[in-house]
Amino acid sequence: MISALRPLFFRAAPALRAAPRVYAAEPQCANPYTHGNCHLIELRNVVKVYETPAGRYHALKGINLCVDTHEFVAIIGKSGSGKSTLINMITGIDRPTAGEIYVGDTAVHRLSEGEMAVWRGKHVGVIFQFFQLLPTLTLVENVMLPMDFCNTFPRRERYERAMQLLEHVGMADHAHKLPSAVSGGQQQRVAIARALANDPPIIVADEPTGNLDSKTANAIFDLFTRLVEEGKTIVMVTHDQDLARRVTRAVTVADGEIKDEVRRA
Ligand SMILES: Nc1ncnc2c1ncn2[C@@H]1O[C@H](COP(=O)(O)OP(=O)(O)OP(=O)(O)O)[C@@H](O)[C@H]1O
Ligand SMILES: [Mg+2]
Repeated sequence: MISALRPLFFRAAPALRAAPRVYAAEPQCANPYTHGNCHLIELRNVVKVYETPAGRYHALKGINLCVDTHEFVAIIGKSGSGKSTLINMITGIDRPTAGEIYVGDTAVHRLSEGEMAVWRGKHVGVIFQFFQLLPTLTLVENVMLPMDFCNTFPRRERYERAMQLLEHVGMADHAHKLPSAVSGGQQQRVAIARALANDPPIIVADEPTGNLDSKTANAIFDLFTRLVEEGKTIVMVTHDQDLARRVTRAVTVADGEIKDEVRRA
């Protein structure tokens, strides 16, 4: 029986060995990433269709977006235009209906659920509008959590590192409080420290200042600017036009499409 199958196996083998080509064209740069992408983040013809009781809804209609290392990109646009859907593609929180997403050496759209969680934990720091700290853990425990999940740093180093990150965002004095005992702006500082826990190259933030007064929002924005100067790459959704003027590139999304891009630096 096995020998009868052998010719079939050998006929199939060459086809199995041939890796599928990712790009029709050769990479356009001298040092492409593993999959031929030249930019740190590349979205190629990304489509997202939601199945709703009212029918199919095209939230993203063929997005092409490239982000390079050390860029600070703002995603702007009206409510419902597709901003969160777009950045959820970069973090792998949501999956595309069609298209390709490359982040560094990873083809994000091909990761399994399990691979995705570990990959995200190591490579992308995610920050949300409502902070999403775990309410029963102290602030320092919240910052240690991603390190515990991904095992990125030895156990004995995690507390010290979390304290250093809290120091970096000006929250070390509050380390042993619960989230409910500090203000919204302070919780967001802790969420930023948590996003930095595994030292990811990329920070993705969805309306990180949306729930803060303008003075606190400015302070959080200054912190982001400092992180970019220190070498991080940031993609941030914002409704705040003043903040959007202070980034290196502003990308306007309307009706699931990129309508405009303005480079400022
Ligand atoms: N899970 C879902 N199922 C069905 N439709 C969805 C789903 N998530 C988002 N949508 C729809 O997709 C469109 C884009 O949503 P998205 O959340 O990306 O908008 P947004 O630009 O982030 O808006 P906001 O500024 O209000 O946060 C909206 O019309 C929304 O209703
Ligand atoms: Mg949104």
